[in-house]
Amino acid sequence: MTSKIPVIIDCDPGQDDALMLFLALNAPELDVRGLVAVAGNVSMEKIKRNLAMLVDIVDRCDVPVFAGCNRPMVRELVTAEHVHGETGINGIELFEPNTQLQDRHGVDFIIAESRTAQDNEITIVATGPLTNIAMALVKAPEIADKIKQIVIMGGACFEGGNITPSAEFNIYVDPHACDVVLQCGRPIILFGLDVTHKVMTTQNRVEAIQAIGNPVSQIAASMLDFFGKHDSEKYSSGGAPLHDPCTVAWLLKPDLFKFKSCHVAVETMSELTMGHTAVDFWRVTGKKPNVEWACDIDADAFFQLLNERLSLY
Ligand code: RIB
Ligand code: CA
Repeated sequence: MTSKIPVIIDCDPGQDDALMLFLALNAPELDVRGLVAVAGNVSMEKIKRNLAMLVDIVDRCDVPVFAGCNRPMVRELVTAEHVHGETGINGIELFEPNTQLQDRHGVDFIIAESRTAQDNEITIVATGPLTNIAMALVKAPEIADKIKQIVIMGGACFEGGNITPSAEFNIYVDPHACDVVLQCGRPIILFGLDVTHKVMTTQNRVEAIQAIGNPVSQIAASMLDFFGKHDSEKYSSGGAPLHDPCTVAWLLKPDLFKFKSCHVAVETMSELTMGHTAVDFWRVTGKKPNVEWACDIDADAFFQLLNERLSLY
């Protein structure tokens, strides 16, 4: 048995964050050291509640949960209730979770957990704005040596933006944090809209999740039903792009994806293109690649993996 992958997950649930967590929290390949909430899809108060609820739903109260930053490093918080609904995880009934968040700040957890790790040991998965990751690197730059890789959902290249014509939401919310992370010198695996828009939650796929029949899958299908509404109309597509699970799916089954090594920079000055990820796909800048940019996925195999793992609950 190969050793488990030590992982810290930073997220802003969000229905697609929830599916990412469902995939991660029953994966024998992963040693999830902790979950950190970041403000993004909705306010931190709602994110904290949502994350605690999701940990209850999959009965993983052994994994410590922390609240991170409740706003971006420089800009004001922008949220996405128009996509995710007022609760951030519309599609399921709210309940008072048993899971209690730790007192320690999420940024301090990332620092402490990294400090105790071996060099190149910790995988960070980030599926919301990168505020907590950047703040940890600014506060304790020495932890970079302990980080094996940072696996991020964010950015866009040929696909265009989803919150502005030129920016993807996670990066748009905190472009300064993205700038810090892109320059940290550690391996970055970046899943942007170019690949996430290839895994649409079509009705057949949601029905297949529903048909698994266990409570977690029922909750997943109900959330995806709601999650699909906004983007189906926006893109005249069947369903919505299932963004965040791409990160954990890569950890579990890397062969699902194709990548290109690219230099990526982020716009932090212009209001018009704020948060735009300049992905040098054709290497016109001559700059050394700092990112593995995900550019293709076997969509059917991705949903097969998701269904296989959901059926284990
Ligand atoms: O742009 C999509 C990303 O923004 C996803 O992570 C979604 O959950 C939101 O955080
Ligand atoms: Ca997210």
